[in-house]
Amino acid sequence: MTHALLDVLGLSERNPGSYLGNGEWSGTSQDADIQVVNPSNGQHLARVSSASAEDYETLVRRAVQTFAAWRATPAPRRGEAIRLCGEALRRHKDALGSLVSLEMGKIKAEGDGEVQEMIDIADFAVGQSRMLYGLSMHSERPGHRMYEQWHPLGLVGIISAFNFPVAVWAWNAFIAAVCGNISLWKPSPRTPLSAIAATRICNEALKAGGFPEVFFLLNDGGNELAQRLVDDPRIALVSFTGSTAVGRQVGVRVAQRMGRSLLELGGNNAIIVDRTADLKLAIPAIVFGAVGTAGQRCTTTRRLIVHESIADDVVARLKAAYAQVEARIGDPLQPGTLMGPLIDAEAVRRFEAAVEKARASGGTVVSGGRARSGPGHFVLPTLITGVRHTDEVVRTETFAPILYVLPYRTLEEAIAIQNGVPQGLSSAVFTQDLKVAEQFLSAAGSDCGIANVNIGTSGAEIGGAFGGEKETGGGRESGSDSWKAYMRRQTNTINYSDALPLAQGIKFDF
Ligand code: UN1
Repeated sequence: MTHALLDVLGLSERNPGSYLGNGEWSGTSQDADIQVVNPSNGQHLARVSSASAEDYETLVRRAVQTFAAWRATPAPRRGEAIRLCGEALRRHKDALGSLVSLEMGKIKAEGDGEVQEMIDIADFAVGQSRMLYGLSMHSERPGHRMYEQWHPLGLVGIISAFNFPVAVWAWNAFIAAVCGNISLWKPSPRTPLSAIAATRICNEALKAGGFPEVFFLLNDGGNELAQRLVDDPRIALVSFTGSTAVGRQVGVRVAQRMGRSLLELGGNNAIIVDRTADLKLAIPAIVFGAVGTAGQRCTTTRRLIVHESIADDVVARLKAAYAQVEARIGDPLQPGTLMGPLIDAEAVRRFEAAVEKARASGGTVVSGGRARSGPGHFVLPTLITGVRHTDEVVRTETFAPILYVLPYRTLEEAIAIQNGVPQGLSSAVFTQDLKVAEQFLSAAGSDCGIANVNIGTSGAEIGGAFGGEKETGGGRESGSDSWKAYMRRQTNTINYSDALPLAQGIKFDF
């Protein structure tokens, strides 16, 4: 039996997985099916066909053709096209938010929130479409004008992760689209239905508005076609969200062919709580950061660096809060649920292995520490004390709700602990001391791409540039001037004089 929600979005038990261009979706072939499972009960939801190598070729060929038309469309018109996508997403917010919740396991409020991020980035992209500004320079030569302009790159490959099955695509695809590019999306094989629904909603909105359907989709159960995309010189930019291990390979392989990559990899985000912190703010921020999305955000709070004078108090308060969350683990679509399941059995195994490792390094499990029995991939929100910041398990990103508590004495020490991991995505300090806040934000402070004061590590707004340093990969996407990653800069010098003066005063008489 098909889940009723699938019908609402035009999905069924068997679905064509790839949008090949020219209004055509791939066929359904039984032998290359991706099995979609509901992570909250382990039950089969639907099947999605994997793209074939032939499908891939068709798709890229048509994407190249579509690009020729799209780049000739004025940027503000492209913005109008994305405005229609934003409108369509507003109409489908409830259904798509529920589908994300059903397929990925995040709670309904977070599923809806993810669709809201898509709507927000659509609005942002509409404005951006009129602001693809280049600078103009004063030429050193008389009768010369010099300026720069930004042109589209062409084809942009987007490889996204299961944890934000639609929002991260929208950050990339909508900005890429107003910049004049065609995107090819390879979503996670864990969340193909959300990808099909999002692609369909947006392409249908484009078609109804008389625009070309610029969102290509490539579902593949394995990673063969993703590898093809990474190595394909026709793909100008590969935007990859996922683990550091895979991202490192993507970065190297794209660099090998002199392509561009935009990497959003692992995080190991910390909150520093200093002795002046307002715990009314800090405790809910820590809890949301650590257990929200069941610890499966790249911005999840994984380390709590707390002043030793208040560590016991903070741990006691967290323990009480974790008990409340524990009582409300369950079906993510049910109102009142605070935490859903992990994505699959493998994720549960990795959670258990990390807890085991922390114990072996002398850690004490204050809360949780085990999987919940029964169907679905549920684990308990977990709080661990007694580990050292140098322990390998603490330095590793485990995509699960585990928070390590690390007491400190001086701010310098806290910042050194915060920065002392290979990743550099998000960070926060809770303090009421201006000096502490400013030191944390200074060049000698947090080394992360995101640094916050009195708000947590997760839940970034789309208006800022999103991404991080070190093993997080260095990419920036979403707001601010991230659009530049999707365009190529061209410097133009125009001589409107009757002479040919050479730069740097060079004389070349012949
Ligand atoms: C991710 O986990 O891949 O800042 C993205 C946040 C969200 C995006 C997370 N807005 O938590």
